[in-house]
Amino acid sequence: NEIKIFSPATVANVSCGFDVLGFCLDTIGDEMVIRKTDKKGIHITRIEGYDLPFEAENNVAGVSALALFEDAQPDYGFEIEIYKNIKPGSGIGSSSASAVGSVFGMNELLGQPYNKTQLTNFAMKGEALASQCEHADNIAPAIFGGFTLVKSVAPLEVLQLPTPKDLFAVIIHPQIEVKTSESRAILPKQIPLQDAITQWSNVGSLVHALHTSDYKLLSRSLTDVVVEPHRSKLIPHFDVIRQTALDNGALGCGISGSGPSIFNLCYGHRNAKSVAKAIKKVYSKTGIPFVVYVSKI
Ligand code: HSE
Repeated sequence: NEIKIFSPATVANVSCGFDVLGFCLDTIGDEMVIRKTDKKGIHITRIEGYDLPFEAENNVAGVSALALFEDAQPDYGFEIEIYKNIKPGSGIGSSSASAVGSVFGMNELLGQPYNKTQLTNFAMKGEALASQCEHADNIAPAIFGGFTLVKSVAPLEVLQLPTPKDLFAVIIHPQIEVKTSESRAILPKQIPLQDAITQWSNVGSLVHALHTSDYKLLSRSLTDVVVEPHRSKLIPHFDVIRQTALDNGALGCGISGSGPSIFNLCYGHRNAKSVAKAIKKVYSKTGIPFVVYVSKI
């Protein structure tokens, strides 16, 4: 009658794949407890870590839970406890982790009536509360694991992509908040054809690199000429981080989701550790508080 969930952080966009590509982090995430209760409806009974609303309709985990609840119409309700480790507004899928955890846990307690695509659909309702638009590039990897590509949102179609076995991520999270809604508002509505060509060629080659475990091609595909030039201005010392990561052998570096977190992809754990060490050394000189995570993908 009760389940404890680890709901993972995720990196959306992966440089060239704005709103479609994402991957899941193994070691960073929220914990949640979902419990059946006689009282019908969705009841958020405990939130630790960050100050978030308890009313289900104002809470991302609550909104996704309500979407599933209204569809399933069980003759009982659910209590949700949220132990938030991922700071809201960090760019590593904080709202998605909450939105996913509640529906994943409820589905287990209901006897798994829904598949992963249906769960993604419910979780998108919660995500929409946070980012004011329905996108699934954080939700899909949290539910499916590894790398995912959201082929379309309506109707929802998610492709699970293979993960090369020696791929690691280093995440640096400068402790400033960038709101997804604001970092979407600064993006241009139209892009030059030449930029579109560069971008879709990189998405295609990145997907091919994942299928063939071609780390060099992956490295050459991790470029974003559409979104990063605008958003990088919101992230202090972004260029320094990128240069440091590449100088230390990272395969690539980009903005994680809508920022301010920055992700680096690395070949092997040893390289990930040395990239993490170099970034920590450089960023500690800026005076901005930050956290660095290393995770297998
Ligand atoms: N694809 C989204 C964005 C992810 O970059 O705005 C953030 O939630």
